[in-house]
Amino acid sequence: MNSITAKLLTIALSLGVFSAVAAEKIDASKLPPASDKKGVTYAKDIKPLMETSCFKCHSSKSEKVKGKLKLDTLEDALKGGENGKDIIAGDSAGSPLVAMVAHLGDEDEFMPPPKNKAGIKQLTKDEVGLIRAWIDQGAK
Ligand code: HEC
Repeated sequence: MNSITAKLLTIALSLGVFSAVAAEKIDASKLPPASDKKGVTYAKDIKPLMETSCFKCHSSKSEKVKGKLKLDTLEDALKGGENGKDIIAGDSAGSPLVAMVAHLGDEDEFMPPPKNKAGIKQLTKDEVGLIRAWIDQGAK
């Protein structure tokens, strides 16, 4: 192939890579609705859920903390990971973490990762709804 074709190909490839990495806007109407439970807190409602589904890869006891995100304290969860904040208090539909656990948007970011070796299952709609209620109520 000539050098112009090669250059065009390189540009096309790099654009493709870009669009795969850029955060995808999700259709918030596809998210499971927030639970109507009142007074949802990290300590009471969210930590037990994350312990089952997330701590294997996102806690200070994980062999390797994935995405530099720890979820085993409220403070660390709010701090976020290598891509910045994953929880926006008061805005569950705009919180990257919610799209990821609802398996919407970029497939590479679905959490827990589908087919993970530990066999950890996807969250149920009710669990996603509980996380949404927690974030909408201020992520306390
Ligand atoms: C089997 C391991 C595993 C489990 C279980 C898991 N994750 Fe992850 N998580 C990862 C990996 C790996 C990454 C890094 C993603 C990448 O680099 O592609 C990540 C990244 C993330 C990020 C992005 C962090 C950032 O700021 O870059 C969020 C948010 C997240 N996970 C949330 C969760 C939540 C919530 C759960 C539980 C419901 C969970 N994950 C369960 C492996 C896991």
